[in-house]
Amino acid sequence: MFSSMKKKLSLSMLPLFRSASQEADAGVYYDYADGSSGIQVISVVSTPLDRTAPWHWDYSGPDWLQQQPTEPSAPKRPSDTEEILAPPRITVDHLDRNNQDAIGDNQDNAGNENHEDGVDTGLLDEEPVKPRWPPLTEAQSALLLTSLMDSYPDYVSQKLGRKHCVTAEHLMHYIAEVTQSQSTKETLGICQVLLEDGVIKPLDRKTEFADFQTEANFVYFFDKVSPLDEIDEDELQSLLDDLIRRGNDALFRMMLRRQPGSRSEQELGFIFNELVHIKALAQTSTSIKRELAKVVLLESHSSAGTVLFNQGDEGTSWYIILKGSVNVVIYGKGVVCTLHEGDDFGKLALINDAPRAASIILREPCHFLRVDKEDFNRILRDVEANTVRLKEHGKDVLILEKIPSKSKKEKSVRYSVMAGTAEQTLEYMLDTRTFENETEEEHVPGRDDLLEDYLLTHTMFISVEDLCACLLRYYNSRPRQTNSSDASAVKNRMSLNKRQVIQFVNFWNQVDREVMFQSVTVRDFLKTLCEAVDKDSHQYNLDKAWNVMEDILDNCTKYVEGLNQNSKLNISSDGTKSSEDNLRPIRPSDESVIKVYNADATYSTVRVSADMRASVVLKAAAKKLQIEGNVVLVEMKSNGEYSLFKDEEMSVETKLSVNGRLFCVPKESLAQLNPLPEQQGPNEPTGKLLETVTSKELAYHCTLYDWQLFRNIHETELINHILGRSTGITSNLDRLLVRFNQIQFWVSSEMCLTSSQSKRVHLLKKFIKAAAHCKEYFNLFAFSAIVMGLTNTAVSRLKGTWEKLPSKFAKIFKDFEEIIDPSRNHRASRMLLSNCLDERRKNTTTDPAPVIPFMPLIMKDLTFTHEGNKTLLDDLVNFEKMHMIAECLRQIRNCMTGEMEIVLPSSEKPVTEFNVQNYIRNLKVIDNQRRLMQLSYKREQKKY
Ligand code: CMP
Repeated sequence: MFSSMKKKLSLSMLPLFRSASQEADAGVYYDYADGSSGIQVISVVSTPLDRTAPWHWDYSGPDWLQQQPTEPSAPKRPSDTEEILAPPRITVDHLDRNNQDAIGDNQDNAGNENHEDGVDTGLLDEEPVKPRWPPLTEAQSALLLTSLMDSYPDYVSQKLGRKHCVTAEHLMHYIAEVTQSQSTKETLGICQVLLEDGVIKPLDRKTEFADFQTEANFVYFFDKVSPLDEIDEDELQSLLDDLIRRGNDALFRMMLRRQPGSRSEQELGFIFNELVHIKALAQTSTSIKRELAKVVLLESHSSAGTVLFNQGDEGTSWYIILKGSVNVVIYGKGVVCTLHEGDDFGKLALINDAPRAASIILREPCHFLRVDKEDFNRILRDVEANTVRLKEHGKDVLILEKIPSKSKKEKSVRYSVMAGTAEQTLEYMLDTRTFENETEEEHVPGRDDLLEDYLLTHTMFISVEDLCACLLRYYNSRPRQTNSSDASAVKNRMSLNKRQVIQFVNFWNQVDREVMFQSVTVRDFLKTLCEAVDKDSHQYNLDKAWNVMEDILDNCTKYVEGLNQNSKLNISSDGTKSSEDNLRPIRPSDESVIKVYNADATYSTVRVSADMRASVVLKAAAKKLQIEGNVVLVEMKSNGEYSLFKDEEMSVETKLSVNGRLFCVPKESLAQLNPLPEQQGPNEPTGKLLETVTSKELAYHCTLYDWQLFRNIHETELINHILGRSTGITSNLDRLLVRFNQIQFWVSSEMCLTSSQSKRVHLLKKFIKAAAHCKEYFNLFAFSAIVMGLTNTAVSRLKGTWEKLPSKFAKIFKDFEEIIDPSRNHRASRMLLSNCLDERRKNTTTDPAPVIPFMPLIMKDLTFTHEGNKTLLDDLVNFEKMHMIAECLRQIRNCMTGEMEIVLPSSEKPVTEFNVQNYIRNLKVIDNQRRLMQLSYKREQKKY
């Protein structure tokens, strides 16, 4: 039955971003070793998730990442004799640029653009582009006014012939109360949205401004609306939620409108944080982003069809699209591409000092970030001035970048490493950094993280053998930093160098959390170093260092003993996992017995360790199954697709998808391979247990289990994952990612298996409530998985069921969908994570509660950073890349801090805690989308 569906597994099942042939210079300008400069083109465009298929985490890098985009060739200039098909020449009013007056999305086109000619509609879209945040309607304005008058009747008065006037102070007070806003900033952002949307207008019409005025007595009036007879609380709540979401953007625009010189430190920090998430700036260094925060301007246009500039014009600015989209038009070719939020354009002319290579026409009202030519050039020139190159034998070995000093007191200039050889960078750190206090400091954004970044990412650029050898060499060598004739200076420096090595190892141990002890090389190195310290202790005054070394060695011994005592894990690849065993991290030497199937569906068991390479597993399996010849190890998925293991891959067992099974077959019989019947998952819904258990209990048990899986992962596994699973195990990470798909499919399966519509509606409510509870527990992982499970086409098409969902639930779900909306590089989801991290700090007096993040997004960021940036640039390690990767890893670490201390909701129901726990850990699901669709059609025939 499935043979017709067989096809080679497509790699790109995670279409978060797709390659875009259209994008031109959405890259970074960089200059490195040879003094030359260039544009690194990174061509990715965010597209919404494909809702026709569930988000199936796939382990191989997606296809589009392999495709190297090409830089756009300079557009052909028409010769004199050639017929020129000129785009409409429309000039843009640049007068407002200095004023940076915002044009709200909904404001009328009150003459800010001066159209000389009409727009050739062929260069626009047939249908007007629908704004993502439509401005508030009159009904919504009226609702807000009614709520204000209801809560604070005294606040609204009549002035200068205007009926519904309110002072800035009162409006802010009302907004803060009704939205329970956390800060003045948040309130201000919301007021700004109201102003930009034209809900409120300043009473003093002469005042020229685009920012909400915070002066207490400044008066606004509600335009064109009167209070309503009654308030629809749900409507109001959903309106307020929208306003809260939009507030941050409005605040950002507000800060950008401040004249560059007058931005406060706080505002610069806010702008910088926003720049960090802009795709076009993903590759620029932190210091460049900080510089850009000082000069970047906001330019807004309210009309589709506006020509920002024409091909052939002089290039005066570089643009990034903050909101909206533009068409790129070339003479004779028409629209060559469309650029969207996060894309940039206009850099070619600045870099090459050439005329504009294309015209830019707005498809919809747009907000741009603009950097003018002078600032653009200066910032890049400054980068050059701040860069120091250290050469050896005529070749660069280190490229350093000036960074702001750590404290205000510290006068000396500090440099961080942008690129360098792994060894030189290590020596540079040992020479120049004092590590003694390093571990006590809390992480501060923007501080010098070189050491931590080096340790978090070292497996990407140096082997442990080389790292240990380099440290020993440094420990034993004569110092390069002092004049060799001064014996006591030499001795002091040698003592310092030795202590530096010990402190480095100590910090490594803390960053690596015991994982370093897994390596025999490291264990030998620690012993050797300990002996050396013992020997040198007296001569170089290393007593304290010796204690540190002793502690590390003690920990190491305990760790190895633990390894030997408890190295068996009994996970079998038939989906049943003993719950207790799942609680501790899988280590490389952990063994398990797995089932490997033959082409005829018989199986044999094979004992494997997590770090066993696929080629070794294959050999063992082939021997047991007595298959000879050209044999391959494959995963057979429930939908009939299969994927081959690469010889070098580790963590074979945990790589299997939710209902995947391991097969060992002759290569020629691959085409005849069928999934096992058991892979199709259950035929009946869970029934009683799921009906009785409360949504809160579900969320509780889910969160505890997800937390166990999450805390078991180690940062190195993420690096191993992006490096192709051949540098080390990824078992704990695999389990977590499979869990994501399992939750998603569980939700979809239960919905599609439940035949009674009323039960389905009940279940739908339960899942929405469970998602809400997960969110409360800061379990954004299960929250997103549940919501995605419900957005699976097989579920979302059950219109009859959704129609019966009470409107309160429908609204909640709509909000949840917006959170998982991938637009603007998953901005909503990122904001939720950062809010959770903030909130947990506020709410607890003791330790902060951990947050379980939406892991697939972190993985996507990592893969994106890895694939979009070279690890080596002219044989030097690209530390800019390492800083970015380390930043992602730190995010995980940050989420992991704290203890999960949630309380089991009391239950009167006859379901034992153990049953629910066991159920949640071993969810039986259908992970074959085709089968889900078939079931879905059985439930509701009608095609809407
Ligand atoms: P610039 O020449 O400064 O101004 C027009 C911009 O359009 C150009 O920089 C690029 O950033 C952008 N662009 C996008 N696609 C193309 C393309 N195919 N050819 C030329 N320019 C393009």
